[in-house]
Amino acid sequence: MECTFTDLHTHILPGVDDGAKNMEKALEMLRMQKACGVDRVALTPHFYPLREEFQAFLEKRQLAYEALLPNWDRETMPELRLAAEVHYSPTLSELDMRRLTIGESNYLLLELSNTSFPAHIESILKAIQQQGIVPILAHVERCEYFMEEPDRLVQLVKLGAMAQVSTKAMVEKKRRKFVQVCLQKSVAQIVASDIHDLWEKKYLVGNVVSKANEKMITRAEEFAKAVWDNVLPPAYTVDPVKRTLFGYR
Ligand SMILES: [Fe+2]
Repeated sequence: MECTFTDLHTHILPGVDDGAKNMEKALEMLRMQKACGVDRVALTPHFYPLREEFQAFLEKRQLAYEALLPNWDRETMPELRLAAEVHYSPTLSELDMRRLTIGESNYLLLELSNTSFPAHIESILKAIQQQGIVPILAHVERCEYFMEEPDRLVQLVKLGAMAQVSTKAMVEKKRRKFVQVCLQKSVAQIVASDIHDLWEKKYLVGNVVSKANEKMITRAEEFAKAVWDNVLPPAYTVDPVKRTLFGYR
Protein backbone atom coordinates (compact mmCIF):
# COMPACT_ATOMS: atom_id res chain seq x y z
CA MET A 1 0.00 0.00 0.00
CA GLU A 2 1.52 3.28 -1.06
CA CYS A 3 -0.41 6.01 0.70
CA THR A 4 0.50 7.46 4.06
CA PHE A 5 -2.07 7.79 6.80
CA THR A 6 -3.76 10.41 8.91
CA ASP A 7 -4.73 9.48 12.47
CA LEU A 8 -7.39 11.88 13.74
CA HIS A 9 -7.96 10.39 17.19
CA THR A 10 -5.05 9.82 19.60
CA HIS A 11 -4.23 10.30 23.26
CA ILE A 12 -0.54 10.98 22.78
CA LEU A 13 -0.26 14.45 24.31
CA PRO A 14 1.54 13.58 27.56
CA GLY A 15 0.16 13.95 31.06
CA VAL A 16 -3.21 15.49 30.25
CA ASP A 17 -5.64 12.56 30.27
CA ASP A 18 -5.66 8.75 30.42
CA GLY A 19 -3.27 8.59 27.44
CA ALA A 20 0.54 8.90 27.38
CA LYS A 21 1.71 9.12 30.99
CA ASN A 22 4.92 11.02 30.27
CA MET A 23 7.03 12.64 27.56
CA GLU A 24 9.08 9.52 26.86
CA LYS A 25 5.99 7.46 26.12
CA ALA A 26 4.50 10.21 23.97
CA LEU A 27 7.66 10.46 21.86
CA GLU A 28 7.83 6.70 21.44
CA MET A 29 4.17 6.63 20.36
CA LEU A 30 4.88 9.29 17.75
CA ARG A 31 7.86 7.31 16.43
CA MET A 32 5.68 4.20 16.24
CA GLN A 33 3.09 6.09 14.22
CA LYS A 34 5.64 7.34 11.70
CA ALA A 35 7.26 3.91 11.44
CA CYS A 36 3.98 2.35 10.29
CA GLY A 37 3.19 5.00 7.70
CA VAL A 38 1.18 7.54 9.71
CA ASP A 39 2.39 10.97 8.62
CA ARG A 40 -0.28 13.13 10.23
CA VAL A 41 -1.53 12.88 13.81
CA ALA A 42 -4.20 14.90 15.61
CA LEU A 43 -3.67 15.14 19.36
CA THR A 44 -7.12 14.70 20.88
CA PRO A 45 -7.06 14.72 24.69
CA HIS A 46 -10.40 14.21 26.44
CA PHE A 47 -12.40 17.27 27.32
CA TYR A 48 -15.40 16.82 29.62
CA PRO A 49 -17.36 20.09 29.57
CA LEU A 50 -19.39 19.17 32.66
CA ARG A 51 -16.32 18.26 34.74
CA GLU A 52 -13.72 20.75 33.61
CA GLU A 53 -13.60 24.45 32.99
CA PHE A 54 -13.13 25.35 29.31
CA GLN A 55 -10.24 27.81 29.82
CA ALA A 56 -8.48 25.47 32.24
CA PHE A 57 -8.61 22.69 29.66
CA LEU A 58 -7.24 24.94 26.89
CA GLU A 59 -4.37 26.10 29.12
CA LYS A 60 -3.50 22.58 30.26
CA ARG A 61 -3.50 21.35 26.65
CA GLN A 62 -1.40 24.28 25.45
CA LEU A 63 1.23 23.75 28.16
CA ALA A 64 1.52 20.06 27.30
CA TYR A 65 1.84 20.88 23.59
CA GLU A 66 4.53 23.48 24.21
CA ALA A 67 6.45 20.96 26.28
CA LEU A 68 6.18 18.38 23.51
CA LEU A 69 7.21 20.57 20.59
CA PRO A 70 10.95 21.00 21.41
CA ASN A 71 11.20 17.19 21.46
CA TRP A 72 9.40 16.72 18.16
CA ASP A 73 11.57 15.44 15.33
CA ARG A 74 10.58 16.00 11.71
CA GLU A 75 12.42 12.92 10.42
CA THR A 76 11.05 10.32 12.79
CA MET A 77 7.66 11.69 13.84
CA PRO A 78 4.41 12.62 12.08
CA GLU A 79 3.14 16.14 11.58
CA LEU A 80 0.94 17.20 14.53
CA ARG A 81 -2.28 19.17 15.04
CA LEU A 82 -3.80 20.16 18.33
CA ALA A 83 -7.40 19.04 18.85
CA ALA A 84 -9.65 17.45 21.48
CA GLU A 85 -12.08 14.61 22.00
CA VAL A 86 -15.02 16.57 23.28
CA HIS A 87 -17.52 14.74 25.43
CA TYR A 88 -21.12 15.44 24.54
CA SER A 89 -22.92 17.94 26.72
CA PRO A 90 -26.16 19.84 26.13
CA THR A 91 -24.25 23.05 26.92
CA LEU A 92 -21.59 22.51 24.24
CA SER A 93 -22.86 25.06 21.80
CA GLU A 94 -22.33 27.82 24.40
CA LEU A 95 -18.56 27.29 24.08
CA ASP A 96 -16.23 28.67 21.42
CA MET A 97 -15.99 25.28 19.78
CA ARG A 98 -13.53 26.47 17.16
CA ARG A 99 -10.87 26.23 19.91
CA LEU A 100 -11.60 22.51 20.19
CA THR A 101 -11.70 21.54 16.53
CA ILE A 102 -8.95 19.59 14.77
CA GLY A 103 -6.24 22.18 14.17
CA GLU A 104 -8.91 24.92 14.43
CA SER A 105 -10.51 23.49 11.28
CA ASN A 106 -14.22 23.00 10.63
CA TYR A 107 -14.20 19.50 12.13
CA LEU A 108 -14.80 18.55 15.77
CA LEU A 109 -14.27 15.11 17.33
CA LEU A 110 -17.33 14.51 19.50
CA GLU A 111 -17.63 11.65 21.99
CA LEU A 112 -21.06 10.35 22.94
CA SER A 113 -21.99 8.23 25.95
CA ASN A 114 -21.29 4.52 25.39
CA THR A 115 -24.48 3.43 27.08
CA SER A 116 -27.30 5.93 26.71
CA PHE A 117 -28.44 7.70 23.58
CA PRO A 118 -27.98 11.40 24.33
CA ALA A 119 -31.13 13.43 24.78
CA HIS A 120 -31.44 16.41 22.43
CA ILE A 121 -28.57 15.17 20.25
CA GLU A 122 -30.23 16.37 17.04
CA SER A 123 -30.59 19.95 18.29
CA ILE A 124 -27.02 20.02 19.66
CA LEU A 125 -25.64 18.71 16.36
CA LYS A 126 -27.59 21.42 14.61
CA ALA A 127 -26.19 24.10 16.94
CA ILE A 128 -22.65 22.85 16.26
CA GLN A 129 -23.27 22.89 12.51
CA GLN A 130 -24.64 26.42 12.75
CA GLN A 131 -21.16 27.45 13.89
CA GLY A 132 -19.85 26.04 10.60
CA ILE A 133 -18.46 22.94 12.31
CA VAL A 134 -18.92 19.33 11.24
CA PRO A 135 -19.15 16.99 14.23
CA ILE A 136 -17.28 13.68 13.83
CA LEU A 137 -18.79 11.11 16.19
CA ALA A 138 -15.91 9.27 17.88
CA HIS A 139 -15.63 5.44 17.92
CA VAL A 140 -19.28 4.83 17.13
CA GLU A 141 -18.84 1.06 17.50
CA ARG A 142 -18.49 1.60 21.25
CA CYS A 143 -21.96 3.11 21.53
CA GLU A 144 -24.18 0.16 22.44
CA TYR A 145 -27.32 1.85 21.13
CA PHE A 146 -25.77 2.20 17.65
CA MET A 147 -24.75 -1.47 17.62
CA GLU A 148 -28.30 -2.40 18.68
CA GLU A 149 -30.12 0.04 16.41
CA PRO A 150 -27.80 1.14 13.59
CA ASP A 151 -30.55 3.30 12.18
CA ARG A 152 -29.98 5.77 15.02
CA LEU A 153 -26.47 6.35 13.68
CA VAL A 154 -27.66 6.43 10.07
CA GLN A 155 -30.11 9.21 10.96
CA LEU A 156 -27.43 11.34 12.66
CA VAL A 157 -25.09 10.94 9.69
CA LYS A 158 -27.93 11.89 7.36
CA LEU A 159 -28.24 15.08 9.44
CA GLY A 160 -24.65 15.91 8.52
CA ALA A 161 -22.53 14.35 11.27
CA MET A 162 -19.60 12.19 10.24
CA ALA A 163 -18.57 9.05 12.11
CA GLN A 164 -15.25 7.52 13.12
CA VAL A 165 -14.59 3.85 13.82
CA SER A 166 -11.56 2.48 15.63
CA THR A 167 -8.80 0.40 14.10
CA LYS A 168 -9.10 -2.00 17.02
CA ALA A 169 -12.71 -2.73 16.10
CA MET A 170 -11.63 -3.61 12.55
CA VAL A 171 -9.79 -6.64 13.89
CA GLU A 172 -12.07 -7.47 16.81
CA LYS A 173 -14.52 -10.32 16.26
CA LYS A 174 -17.38 -8.71 18.21
CA ARG A 175 -17.42 -5.40 16.33
CA ARG A 176 -15.67 -6.11 13.02
CA LYS A 177 -18.80 -6.74 10.96
CA PHE A 178 -20.57 -3.65 12.25
CA VAL A 179 -17.57 -1.47 11.45
CA GLN A 180 -17.09 -2.97 7.98
CA VAL A 181 -20.72 -2.51 7.02
CA CYS A 182 -20.76 1.07 8.37
CA LEU A 183 -17.71 1.92 6.25
CA GLN A 184 -19.12 0.17 3.17
CA LYS A 185 -22.39 2.09 3.46
CA SER A 186 -20.64 5.40 4.22
CA VAL A 187 -22.38 5.56 7.58
CA ALA A 188 -18.86 5.81 8.99
CA GLN A 189 -16.16 7.53 6.99
CA ILE A 190 -13.08 7.74 9.17
CA VAL A 191 -10.79 5.13 10.71
CA ALA A 192 -8.54 6.18 13.61
CA SER A 193 -6.54 4.49 16.35
CA ASP A 194 -7.69 6.21 19.59
CA ILE A 195 -4.29 5.07 20.87
CA HIS A 196 -3.65 5.58 24.62
CA ASP A 197 -0.50 3.53 25.26
CA LEU A 198 2.51 1.87 23.67
CA TRP A 199 1.07 -1.64 23.87
CA GLU A 200 -1.58 -0.63 21.33
CA LYS A 201 1.01 -0.52 18.55
CA LYS A 202 -0.73 -3.36 16.72
CA TYR A 203 -3.83 -1.13 16.39
CA LEU A 204 -2.16 1.79 14.64
CA VAL A 205 -3.78 2.63 11.30
CA GLY A 206 -0.78 1.44 9.28
CA ASN A 207 -0.69 -1.86 11.17
CA VAL A 208 -4.28 -2.99 10.64
CA VAL A 209 -4.18 -2.84 6.84
CA SER A 210 -4.77 -6.26 5.30
CA LYS A 211 -5.68 -7.48 1.84
CA ALA A 212 -9.28 -7.77 3.04
CA ASN A 213 -9.66 -4.18 4.21
CA GLU A 214 -7.12 -2.24 2.15
CA LYS A 215 -9.74 -0.59 -0.08
CA MET A 216 -11.79 0.42 2.93
CA ILE A 217 -8.82 1.99 4.69
CA THR A 218 -7.66 3.80 1.56
CA ARG A 219 -11.12 5.30 1.21
CA ALA A 220 -11.20 6.26 4.91
CA GLU A 221 -7.83 7.96 4.46
CA GLU A 222 -9.32 10.20 1.75
CA PHE A 223 -11.82 11.44 4.33
CA ALA A 224 -9.24 11.81 7.09
CA LYS A 225 -6.94 13.77 4.77
CA ALA A 226 -9.83 16.07 3.79
CA VAL A 227 -10.43 16.80 7.49
CA TRP A 228 -6.71 17.42 7.97
CA ASP A 229 -6.66 19.81 5.02
CA ASN A 230 -9.91 21.41 6.20
CA VAL A 231 -11.61 20.89 2.86
CA LEU A 232 -14.90 19.22 1.92
CA PRO A 233 -14.81 15.41 2.12
CA PRO A 234 -15.27 13.24 -0.98
CA ALA A 235 -18.91 12.95 -2.06
CA TYR A 236 -20.74 10.06 -0.42
CA THR A 237 -24.21 8.59 -0.13
CA VAL A 238 -25.34 7.14 3.16
CA ASP A 239 -27.08 3.78 2.79
CA PRO A 240 -29.08 2.06 5.53
CA VAL A 241 -27.36 -0.44 7.82
CA LYS A 242 -29.55 -3.26 9.11
CA ARG A 243 -28.97 -5.52 12.06
CA THR A 244 -29.71 -9.17 11.23
CA LEU A 245 -29.72 -12.44 13.18
CA PHE A 246 -26.13 -13.05 12.12
CA GLY A 247 -24.68 -9.55 12.21
CA TYR A 248 -25.21 -6.56 9.95
CA ARG A 249 -25.87 -5.92 6.30
FE1 LIG B 1 -10.42 8.68 22.58
